[in-house]
Amino acid sequence: MSRPRIWVSQPLFDDLLAPLREHADVVTTADVAEHSPAQIATALRDVDGALVTLNERIDGTAIAQAQHLRAVANVGVGYNNLDVAALAAVGVAATNTPDVLTETTADFAWALLLATARRVTEAERWLRSGAWTQWSFDRLLGADVHGATLGILGMGRIGQAIARRAAGFDMRVVYHNRSRVPDAVEAACRARWVPFQDLLAEADHLVLVLPYSASSHHVIDAAALAAMKPTATLVNLARGGIVDDSALAEALAAGRIAGAGLDVFEGEPVVHERLLACDNVVLTPHIASASHATRRAMVALAVANLAAALGLGPRAGDPPNLVPGSALPRLPSP
Ligand code: DGY
Repeated sequence: MSRPRIWVSQPLFDDLLAPLREHADVVTTADVAEHSPAQIATALRDVDGALVTLNERIDGTAIAQAQHLRAVANVGVGYNNLDVAALAAVGVAATNTPDVLTETTADFAWALLLATARRVTEAERWLRSGAWTQWSFDRLLGADVHGATLGILGMGRIGQAIARRAAGFDMRVVYHNRSRVPDAVEAACRARWVPFQDLLAEADHLVLVLPYSASSHHVIDAAALAAMKPTATLVNLARGGIVDDSALAEALAAGRIAGAGLDVFEGEPVVHERLLACDNVVLTPHIASASHATRRAMVALAVANLAAALGLGPRAGDPPNLVPGSALPRLPSP
């Protein structure tokens, strides 16, 4: 049997690809690339497996042409860039990288929350502008985090890790999720399930960590923002599209909420120009999981997932992290 072929869509710590190289012919991408749909279709056409990132949208058209493809390993926990149903329909496995990024991402949620509540980046911009000529008592006042109510929308692994950290700030934690988490998890997180409207009304700091799907599209829209406290802050590190960025920019400009911390955007890497114009928003370029150790762990896990799904080397037979709705990989074509 000939060696399987694998496409790696972005530069991804080359040393971590060794387990794939040992058993397969690996085509890598030298520089960070924005692949067009046609380029993605071409790259997938003759390969058995692919290691991709959120930059690559794997759609039905590309999948239909990828006759040999058996597995797509996403380097990320979110996988809304993959058409999982279209992959499953032709027996292509789809995997993601849960767990390894949970704690790093939860750390970053707190970085954004604190920076937003205490206006850290706004203060730095003001200082760097040369405007600081005298200390004054009432300049750049922010919101307290300690003792406040933390709201979490989406109580999966990352939501729980964020909640656990809230104990250090002596916060009250409320969350909303499609289904309540088990009592033991609620107890460990010291968190209480509330209906969505109560979450909006009660949170002093609301963090969004739910997956993006058609049902979470614009879940934070103008009406949701209007239901929040005018003193509240909003943090989104899940996916763009969960928040209606235009409605958020309007709410921030009008002071309908106090501030926002955003790591993800609709249409990123383009950021809504009205958000860029707001002072009361902290903006970061989708870096919540970007620590040295975690980004390497994500690649190592995606490599292990792909090796397992394609039956390569010692990982053959290991259960890869199949995403919900994924098929098991079809047999290699002769
Ligand atoms: C994820 O893992 O989903 C992050 O957004 C980075 O890809």
